[in-house]
Parts: sequence; C-alpha cells; structure tokens
Amino acid sequence: MRSTPSSDPVSPEPAASEAFLRMEGVSKVYPMGDHAVFALRSVDLSVAAETFTAVVGRSGSGKSTLLHLLAALETPTAGKVTVGAWRLSALDRKAQTHYRRAMVGMIFQAFHLVPTMTAFDNVALPLVLAGVAPERRRARAEACLEMVRLTHRAGHRPAELSGGERQRVAIARALVADPPLLLADEPTGNLDSTTAAQIVELLARLRHEHGKTVVFVTHHFAEVAAVADRVVELNDGRVVGRGDSPASSL
Ligand SMILES: Nc1ncnc2c1ncn2[C@@H]1O[C@H](COP(=O)(O)OP(=O)(O)OP(=O)(O)O)[C@@H](O)[C@H]1O
Ligand SMILES: [Mg+2]
Repeated sequence: MRSTPSSDPVSPEPAASEAFLRMEGVSKVYPMGDHAVFALRSVDLSVAAETFTAVVGRSGSGKSTLLHLLAALETPTAGKVTVGAWRLSALDRKAQTHYRRAMVGMIFQAFHLVPTMTAFDNVALPLVLAGVAPERRRARAEACLEMVRLTHRAGHRPAELSGGERQRVAIARALVADPPLLLADEPTGNLDSTTAAQIVELLARLRHEHGKTVVFVTHHFAEVAAVADRVVELNDGRVVGRGDSPASSL
C-alpha cells in the first residue's frame, strides 16, 4: 500500500523491483502500406501496485495503444511488458486470454454494454464466458453491483440507465472476475463533469478499498488531479513527462 498523501498527486516512479507493471523499451509500430506508424516509441514505465496513474496526451499520442499493450490486446513490436508475474510479450493467444480474464478489467468511453441484457446480466457476462457456475455468478454480480452502488438498477437495460449509471455497470462488469488491474480508456469522455467526477471518485475508492491498480487515460488531467498518484504524459508515442503535473500545459 502506498503512503503518498492524497494532497500530493505527484510521486516518483517506483524502483523496478517494486513495480506491479513494467514497460521496458516498448515500441509499437503499425505497418500501413508503404509507411509505418510509430504509436509508441521506446517507452519505459514502472507502476506500483494499488496506485492510480493518469495517462494524458493529445489525440494520437499513443494512450490507447499503451492500454492495449497492458491488456495484452496487442503485442509490442519491441520491448518487454510485465504485469505481476506475467511477461506479456511472451504469451500466445490462449495465454493472452487467460491473462486478461485473471488480471485485467477494462473500461471504455463508449461503455460497450450489451443493449438487450439487463445491468445484472451485463455484469455477469464475463463469468458466463469463463464457465463459472450460476450460483457463484449471481453472488459475484450482486456484490459488484453493490460495489458501484447500483443494486437498485439491476433489472434495467442500458437504454433505461443514465450515462453515469451505464458506466458504473461497465465498471461492475470490469470488477466481476476480481482482477487486480483496471484499465480505463477515457471512461468519462461521454459524461458531464459532475457525473465524470463521480466515476473518478468511484475508481479512486476501488483503488483504496479494494486494492486495485488503476491506469486512467484522460484528456482532462484536472478531473483526476486530486486522486492520481502520478501522471504519465505521452507525446507522439514518447513519454515526455512523468510525475510532474502537466495541467498547466494542457
Ligand atoms: N490498428 C492501427 N493501425 C494503424 N495505426 C494505428 C492503429 N491504432 C492506432 N494507430 C495509430 O497510432 C497512433 C496512436 O493511436 P492511439 O489510439 O494510441 O492514440 P490516443 O492517444 O489513444 O488518441 P485519442 O486521444 O484520439 O484516443 C495514432 O497515430 C493512430 O493513428
Ligand atoms: Mg485513445
């Protein structure tokens, strides 16, 4: 557990031995016909367990690519990505799926809920896909809806929920397999500022009360300034700032 006071959003990079997730010399290049797009360039990054890291940078700077590598949805062109005991760059497709189910909860700007399913069934869905028995599924889905304070909306379909409630369902779904790592890609991008603040507060609470490690991509550092332990700023695929608040430059 970190001892950094919450009034100080800036803390140094952990020693490599303390890191929960680590990127070493990571590059991601997309071949596009006769040229190549360098989405990430020689990124080195260490993040301690049970911390809240904000990733900022302008559009196209590589934020989503960084999350996709941490989720093993993409493999690096060069370099090494490690999360806990998992060396992601060495995993085959089957092991990548296994890793994601065990270690990662993902949250997106567009929620990605199944429109025909209730909040409850959306939350339980990853456990259905993982072959978890119905009784255990029900207990976990109930517990996770409670964690996001949405028990009273369990029977609503996405169209019958507000934007903030939809995102809370998506967060409950991300929690249902109890992964240690939450990767959030602009989770507040579709929400008004009050609702966005509630989502940030919820993710900060999950870090403090449930020991989650949160990596949160945002265009608006100000919205996470009060809860982020650190900030990583990307520019054109490179880490151009870490630790220091970029708020003044955004
Ligand atoms: N599958 C792909 N094929 C080719 N180029 C890609 C692919 N995915 C991303 N890129 C390119 O890589 C760069 C980084 O993209 P990325 O999606 O990581 O940016 P981002 O920081 O998340 O941007 P935004 O804030 O707009 O979401 C961009 O130039 C993008 O066009
Ligand atoms: Mg993106």
